[in-house]
Amino acid sequence: MHVHIVFCHPSRRSFSAAVLDALQRGLAEAGHTHSLSDLYAMGFDPLLGESEYLREISLEPDTPPPPEVCSEQVLVDAADALGFVFPLWWSDVPAMLKGWFDRVLTNGWAYSYEGDDRVSHIQPDRALILCPAGHTREHLDETGVVDAMHRILVEDRLQGVGVSDVDLEILGGMMPGDDTYREEHLRRVHELGRRFR
Ligand SMILES: Cc1cc2nc3c(=O)[nH]c(=O)nc-3n(C[C@H](O)[C@H](O)[C@H](O)COP(=O)(O)O)c2cc1C
Repeated sequence: MHVHIVFCHPSRRSFSAAVLDALQRGLAEAGHTHSLSDLYAMGFDPLLGESEYLREISLEPDTPPPPEVCSEQVLVDAADALGFVFPLWWSDVPAMLKGWFDRVLTNGWAYSYEGDDRVSHIQPDRALILCPAGHTREHLDETGVVDAMHRILVEDRLQGVGVSDVDLEILGGMMPGDDTYREEHLRRVHELGRRFR
């Protein structure tokens, strides 16, 4: 299987970077190949500009997406599955990753409308989301954050464009300076990579 991983964190010293390494190691050991969009390292611009906006709302549908958007779409199209690794910031994805969804999931490529129905087009039908968070998984469940992420990230942004089989793994309890859960999480991520299907 070929997996395209979208990684979003500004620092290689982060726990998220260790999660990315563990996932890549696990996938390789299982014989899977992968490609990587490291959004900060690439300097990915998350801002959807006016021409993209006009294209998206079908006022100027013939404007082609910018090259940096097309190259992301080529990587996604070549994949059987997607991986996402990012920290939970203000109960959501970091702004740069939100911009990746805004810009890369374009009208006509990721989805289109037939009458009132949204039709999904994206190639991969499987995704694994790995999300380190400061709060524990229990706290994020109790406060409704996991439900909100499921509704928005899993159902709308991924299943809504045809990625039907999505696992959301919250790696909770990762408060700065507290390594209580670190090794347990990294072992689990490595195993998820090795067992990925
Ligand atoms: C700007 C910012 C916002 C954050 N918001 C949340 C939050 O809403 N919920 C939460 O559980 N943790 C939050 N955290 C904590 C991070 O999720 C946690 O520090 C991170 O997952 C640890 O991994 P890292 O070393 O990869 O950054 C926030 C951290 C930052 C820097």
